[in-house]
Amino acid sequence: MFEKLKQPAPDSILGLVKLYREDPRENKIDLGVGVYKDANGLTPVMRAVKAAEQQIWEAQDSKAYTSLAGDPAFADAMVELVLGDAVPRETVAAIATPGGTGAIRQAFELIRNINADARVFVSDPTWPNHLSILDYLGIEAVSYRYFDSETRGVDFNGMMEDLKGAKKGDVVLLHGCCHNPTGANLNSTEWDAVIKLLQDSGATPMIDIAYQGFGDGLEADAAATRKLVAAVPECLIAASCSKNFGIYRERTGMLMAVSKDMGAQALNQAALAFLNRQNFSFPPDHGARIVTTIMHDTALREDWMAELEAVRLGMLDLRTQLASELQRLSGSDRFGFLAQHRGMFSRIGTTPEKVVELREKHGVYMVGDSRMNIAGLNTQTVPILAQAIIDVGV
Ligand code: LMR
Repeated sequence: MFEKLKQPAPDSILGLVKLYREDPRENKIDLGVGVYKDANGLTPVMRAVKAAEQQIWEAQDSKAYTSLAGDPAFADAMVELVLGDAVPRETVAAIATPGGTGAIRQAFELIRNINADARVFVSDPTWPNHLSILDYLGIEAVSYRYFDSETRGVDFNGMMEDLKGAKKGDVVLLHGCCHNPTGANLNSTEWDAVIKLLQDSGATPMIDIAYQGFGDGLEADAAATRKLVAAVPECLIAASCSKNFGIYRERTGMLMAVSKDMGAQALNQAALAFLNRQNFSFPPDHGARIVTTIMHDTALREDWMAELEAVRLGMLDLRTQLASELQRLSGSDRFGFLAQHRGMFSRIGTTPEKVVELREKHGVYMVGDSRMNIAGLNTQTVPILAQAIIDVGV
């Protein structure tokens, strides 16, 4: 049987991890996979997470199953964190999932179960795993223009033009904040126009929000999602705790289905729990319990928010340093977009050949589409990267 297996397509992000590890050069710079690193290149366990784990260890007297949807207290905590009071709690069905990817996977399966002909509109570019999972599930992906390769901002007119093709029964996938891979984001007026377009077309929005707190702050990063959810009859939201709680390997995420039809919540909740049962039965609990503990404890929550804010400001500072170093070296403002982008990533907008040159000549590892993880930098490596970018002629 196994002889029939075909080699899966390589993952453009995860493939870099191996290449980087095998590179013996000491001065190599890892700007690949989206994991936060501090100035020492470490991905620390956040203080509040450590404290919550200790509380859990002391108080927990059973590891028996929770429920198929996960602990209801985790759902409440996540609905509050992501949606605030944008919609009544009883309009939201929610399941814990293994990470944000688990939530995306469940959402796509749900869409396919509801409408086998549904198309999912995705930004060009988008996180590669969106496309990979859609393809795996046999769901048609339709690209909409998003990144303007001249300005390195959003091609908003192109986006609106392309989204006009989405109809009722289709899904429009949007990044709630900190667009991955580009770092270019809609402003609030542009979000309003997208919301209006969705209201008019009847297409169902789906938000992927994996970097809340990494862009303009916890509340600001959720603002577009909240506005959208309040304005449309139904919506899917895939949220991740990997980055903002730094609990990547705990696989902690949540899928929410919001429906203004008050009678729909119970059915939505049952359908989501059923999906969990089919795919893995009970969702992982440890990370969810960490998040719930932090969100319910005022002191831990404040400490977590303070540490997250410091992480965010540190990344913004690196952006500013890199933009000004490149301005100094190039004598132009053409890299100013780096300071405008938000979140972990920026697409510098160069060719795959130059990305390879950066890796081979300068030991700089970024994804082939020229996405770099800003959090992989520090004050010492910013000037080295800037010089390498100028040397290869980006
Ligand atoms: C990324 O985009 O680098 C992260 O979301 C990690 C991943 O799974 O790809």
